[in-house]
Amino acid sequence: MCGIVCAISNQPVLPLLIEGLKRLEYRGYDSAGVALLDEDGFERTRSVGRIADLVAALGTGINNTSTAGIAHTRWATHGAPTRNNAHPHLTTGKLAIVHNGIIENHQSLREGLIKAGYHFESETDTEVILHEVDRQYQQTGNLYEAVRATVKRLKGAYAIGLISSDEPRRIVGARSGSPMVVGLGEDGHYIASDMAALLSVTHDFHIINDDELVEIDDDGVRISNLDGETVEREIFTSDQHAGAADLGEYRHYMLKEIHEQTQAVADTLEGRIAAQQVLTGIFGAQDEAIFKQTRAIQIIACGTSYHAGLVAQYWFEKYGMACRVEIASEFRSRKHTIADNTLLVTLSQSGETIDTLAALKIAREAGVAHTLTICNAPESTLVRESELVFMTHAGPEIGVASTKAFTTQLVSLLLLVVSVTRHHRLTQADETKIVKELRELPSIIDETLKREEEIARLATLFADKEHALFLGRGTQYPIAMEGALKLKEISYIHAEAYAAGELKHGPLALVDEKMPVIAVAPNNRLLEKLKSNIEEVRARGGHMLVFADDQARIDQTAGVEIINIGRVDNIIAPIVFTIPLQMLAYHVALIKGTDVDKPRNLAKSVTVE
Ligand code: M6R
Repeated sequence: MCGIVCAISNQPVLPLLIEGLKRLEYRGYDSAGVALLDEDGFERTRSVGRIADLVAALGTGINNTSTAGIAHTRWATHGAPTRNNAHPHLTTGKLAIVHNGIIENHQSLREGLIKAGYHFESETDTEVILHEVDRQYQQTGNLYEAVRATVKRLKGAYAIGLISSDEPRRIVGARSGSPMVVGLGEDGHYIASDMAALLSVTHDFHIINDDELVEIDDDGVRISNLDGETVEREIFTSDQHAGAADLGEYRHYMLKEIHEQTQAVADTLEGRIAAQQVLTGIFGAQDEAIFKQTRAIQIIACGTSYHAGLVAQYWFEKYGMACRVEIASEFRSRKHTIADNTLLVTLSQSGETIDTLAALKIAREAGVAHTLTICNAPESTLVRESELVFMTHAGPEIGVASTKAFTTQLVSLLLLVVSVTRHHRLTQADETKIVKELRELPSIIDETLKREEEIARLATLFADKEHALFLGRGTQYPIAMEGALKLKEISYIHAEAYAAGELKHGPLALVDEKMPVIAVAPNNRLLEKLKSNIEEVRARGGHMLVFADDQARIDQTAGVEIINIGRVDNIIAPIVFTIPLQMLAYHVALIKGTDVDKPRNLAKSVTVE
């Protein structure tokens, strides 16, 4: 999970390379580097830390006027995050590379290269590609041919960009398993890991597919396959604004994105529902025909997206549709049976999560009837490889901790539940009721966001704790899981979520005054049971925080804080109750002074195994 940006232009490229790296920092942020090429050769600068550290390391070099260069922001896989392991890597002073991905057969390639006399300066797998290209280059004298011969020998995932001082006006890229786009600008041509990196210079792109190469030079762009044959590619024009990912008045992207949920949910619903029904055709032209045949749902996702899938399982089963949910990395690594007429649903903010992509491929090979993705990145691999597509209109999500992507996934899933189960147990009255609740959802979210001050005060109860327990029942159980994930991701407090009924089967042993317990209380038939759990915790001296509906009637007593979320219908309750848990995690992290948007060891998109 790294970010690459490469440029050939008639203007100095350093400003746009730095701007591109900043936009890609969500992909990795433990070290960064840039290699600029002019008639005097390469000028390389690398540093440990953020792009700001790279800018500091550049010093007066920030005024470099080279018109060709490649740049990288890293999330370490092979080799610690040191300056020496940072990209770009250089060989013989005339060839430079940036790489996102993992080369699985790096060891055997490395041994062969060492025998051939190559010396390795870093611990990275990337340096293997560099030396292999160099070896091929010495035979062919042509960078494109050298890269083409090299990638045929690679096993694993890569998006690479290479430049040689022997061909200073050409950059060669190649992709397999890691995202890559080519930007078509007025002043030049560019390669990057995603479009956002290049929006300051262009909105026109070619998307590069797996097993393709690309050459950019002053005259244009050539895309080809591994056999060297030219591939025609249409231009994709992005409607994203360069400023859409700016911080604005907010202190952190996560806070901005939490507050954007009112609009993100409204945007996701727009054009998808009528007064009393969910519109047909919103998942693709064939959706009705496919949903009529569907007999089972298999959801696959990772992390927060997986939690959204777990909520949907309760919804699907409520309306008579069998549904299984599995973490993508597990799905891809075991044998499974897929029932006839199964609709495979992948959930992903980025659309580039490697395990989800691999699971989709495996399910297709296993003969799954139809595939659908719910995704936030229109140009992503997942969108391109799925039969039906539904875009969450959350806008760019920059904070590593996912917030608005999750709530818009839940909204999208609820629309899917209606669209599929209306052919089964869901009645017209059910559909009308759900649509009514969805219409009210943006304003309910808006009201919930107004509780931030109260939640910020409660966050002070957590800042000095090392552990926390989250409890939920029914659809609120996955929400408790999501609340725990948010807290651990950004505040580094160890948090576990349990189905509340499991409390006395083990975790109750952990409860004492040092272990706060957060309960998400549904206003349904499970509420009375949750009230018993509250008593169980209280009796053991535990401090409890209960997020409840105003109908829940839970007493505020010593050691029990009740946060009344207002009237919320059960069907949309998981979406609404997510908001205070996000705010709680944010304010705990703020008190602890962690790097909220870029928590340690994590990256936004997990594009390597
Ligand atoms: O882009 P995706 O939705 O496929 O990403 C899946 C997970 O990596 C992601 O949700 C991760 O768990 C977030 N950091 C959670 O906040």
